[in-house]
Amino acid sequence: MAEADLYLLYKGVYLPSLIHTPESLRNYEEFVFRPDDVIIVTYPKSGTTWLKEIVPLVTSGGDPKSVETLHNWDRVPFLEEVQASVLKLEERPSPRIFSTHFHYSMMPPSFFEVKPKVIYVMRNPKDVFTSSLHYHKMASFLVTPGSQTEFLHKFLEGKVMFGSWFDHVKSWLNVEDKKFIMYISYEEMIMDLKDSVSRIAQFLEKALDAEVIEKIAERCLFKNMKQNNMSNYSQVPHEIMDPTKSEFFRKGIAGDWKNQLTAAEAEHFDAVYKDKMKDVKYKFAWD
Ligand code: A3P
Repeated sequence: MAEADLYLLYKGVYLPSLIHTPESLRNYEEFVFRPDDVIIVTYPKSGTTWLKEIVPLVTSGGDPKSVETLHNWDRVPFLEEVQASVLKLEERPSPRIFSTHFHYSMMPPSFFEVKPKVIYVMRNPKDVFTSSLHYHKMASFLVTPGSQTEFLHKFLEGKVMFGSWFDHVKSWLNVEDKKFIMYISYEEMIMDLKDSVSRIAQFLEKALDAEVIEKIAERCLFKNMKQNNMSNYSQVPHEIMDPTKSEFFRKGIAGDWKNQLTAAEAEHFDAVYKDKMKDVKYKFAWD
């Protein structure tokens, strides 16, 4: 199906209307943050689900109860989604953990007043595109991607859910007061998960023994998370996410774009990337 049937337009970006409604968005606009909230912020397909496993394990000091008993959409809800509205989030004890796919400029007023902790996760956009292409094939609430080249053009122009990858990343990298934001990439987590968990724990001011960090990293390996029914989306009805078309836990590697993009597509991608990112000083792990 096409955009008009499946998406609503909010602040200039498409959102899937199965899980976003005017009411859920109004609730988010009025949401009241606490200074010790932790918000996992990502452009879709950048490692959100991974962080939804790591952060609760870090804040609980390695206690697996929440990752074993709560679906990740309840454990770390997306604040903009319908599901957040039914969870009584104001009653949750601190530190509460949330997620969002919103650009910085789309965050609600309380966010700018309170400045809760943010973990911003980035991933090589060619791999984001690759992961997204497969996800659009398996998720019935997303537009049918059409041909790969067609979908690539849409992606590069930001005519996809949650808008432009470039705008998203730049919006969060350009925040002036960066004290409350930790930046980490999917590639860094692939390269050294233990070190990434340890950095996340440090940012969250949670002193953890090396042994606990090791256990968390082990539990959060792709092969292990893929087996966790509370995290692998296997309990979503197959009419909504069809694992016979593509699994949510698909490959979990860095650089899969090399198996997906043609040489011409990769060249075009690089040219657009170079132009759109020319003013960005940040040293990305994939560069
Ligand atoms: P692939 O489709 O490339 O496999 P998000 O959660 O933001 O939607 O991102 C989904 C991507 O993260 C998928 O990428 C998924 O496999 C990958 N992923 C999830 N958990 C992971 C883990 N523990 N290790 C590596 N990749 C993981």
